[in-house]
Amino acid sequence: MSTLDINFVRSQFPAFYEPSLQEQAFFENAGGSYTCKPVLDRLTRYYTQRKVQPYAPYEASRLAGEEMDEARARMAAILGVETDELSFGPSTTQNTYVLAQAFRQWMQPGEAIIVTNQDHEANSGPWRRLADEGIEIREWQIDPETGSLKPMDLENLLDGNVRLVCFPHCSNVIGEINPVTEITAIAHAAGAFVCVDGVSYAPHGFPNVGDLGPDIYLFSAYKTYGPHQGCMVIRRTLGEMLPNQGHYFNGDVLYQRFTPAGPDHAQIAASAGMADYVDLLCDHHSGPTGEAAERGSFAHDLMRSHEVALLQPLLDAVKDRNAVRLIGTSDASHRAPTVALALNRNAEAVAADLTGYGIMAGGGDFYAVRPLTAMGVDPDQGVLRVSFTHYTSQQEIDQLLNALDDVL
Ligand SMILES: Cc1ncc(COP(=O)(O)O)c(C=O)c1O
Repeated sequence: MSTLDINFVRSQFPAFYEPSLQEQAFFENAGGSYTCKPVLDRLTRYYTQRKVQPYAPYEASRLAGEEMDEARARMAAILGVETDELSFGPSTTQNTYVLAQAFRQWMQPGEAIIVTNQDHEANSGPWRRLADEGIEIREWQIDPETGSLKPMDLENLLDGNVRLVCFPHCSNVIGEINPVTEITAIAHAAGAFVCVDGVSYAPHGFPNVGDLGPDIYLFSAYKTYGPHQGCMVIRRTLGEMLPNQGHYFNGDVLYQRFTPAGPDHAQIAASAGMADYVDLLCDHHSGPTGEAAERGSFAHDLMRSHEVALLQPLLDAVKDRNAVRLIGTSDASHRAPTVALALNRNAEAVAADLTGYGIMAGGGDFYAVRPLTAMGVDPDQGVLRVSFTHYTSQQEIDQLLNALDDVL
C-alpha cells in the first residue's frame, strides 16, 4: 500500500496557495471541503466556453452536454453502479425530499419506515413527515453513551410492514462508520429497501456503492472536493418502481425521475473533475490502471490510511481530558476524522477562540440535533467540531493540538 504524497495532494487544491488563507488550518471540512483544481478548471471552462443550452447540435452545446454525460458516467463507474443510476440534484436534503414524496405516493397507510436518531436531519425529517400521511415511523435508537447503532436493535424493529430503512454511513457528529453491508442485508432479508446517507463518509474516499449494496446512496459533492451538488445513487429496481417525480415525458429516463428541476448544467459538468482527481491520485501513486471502481477503491484506501494515522493522536489527546467529552469512538480505524467535542461552555465561543490560533472550526448542532439530544448534549450549547480530510497535514494537526491545549 503506498503512502499518500501530501505535497502532491495539496498541489491539487488552490486554496492552499491562496494568500488570504495562509497560516489558517482548515478544520471544518465536514461542513464543506476545499475544491480541487480539476473541478475549478472544468467549472471555469464551462462558464467561459460552453455556457449555452446543452445537447443541441452546435459545437459549444454539444460539448456542454458531453461534459455533463461524462460526469455521470465517470462518477457512476467509480461508485460501481450503472451510469443512469446516478443523478444530480441541488443538495442531499432536497434529493431526500423528492425521494420522500415518491415513497409517500408508493406506500400504503399503515406501512412503515425506519429512521434513526443518529442521522443528520436531512435523512430524518423528510421521512418523519410522512407520519402525517398515515405512514408509521419507527426509530432505530443509538446507545446514549457511545452513540452507536446496534444492528440487533434494527432486527427487533423490522417486520413485514417495513418498506424502507434509512441510516447514515456515518453521522456528522458521532463519526463512527456503520456496517452498511451488514445492515442492508438485515433490511433486505425483511423485504425493506435501504437508503444510506453517505454525506459524512464519501469525502474520505468514494465507496463502491454497488458492492456495499444499498438501494439508495446519497452524498454531497461540495464536501467531496467538487461543486455544490447533491449526488444520488438509486439502484434500478427501486428507481423504476417508485413513481416518477420529473416531467411525465421524462419518466423513461432513470436519472431524470427524481430530479424534477432543470439541473445545474455547469456544476454537473464540473463534477467530472472529481473523477479527474481520483485519476490523478491513482496515477501519481502508481495505482491500478484498469477499472474506475478499482481506481476509486485505491484512492479511497490511500486517503483513509493517511487520515487514520493523523486521527488517532488527536483522539488520544482529547479522549481523557477533563471537561471534554469526545462524541463517538476513540478508535480511529472505526470512524471518520470528524471529531465532535462536548464542552462545559458554549462551543461556538470556543470555535471563536480558536480563530486566534489560525484554526478554522465550527461550534453548534450541525443539524444533528437528534443525535446530540439522544446523547445528552444540549444542542444550544452545541459541540466543537474539528473535521479534516486526506489533504490535512501533520503540521496542521500539530497546530490544532497546540491550540486545543490552550483553549480547552
Ligand atoms: C451527514 C449529512 N447528511 C446530509 C447533509 C445535508 O447535505 P446538503 O447540504 O447537501 O443538503 C449534511 C450536511 O452537512 C450532512 O453532514
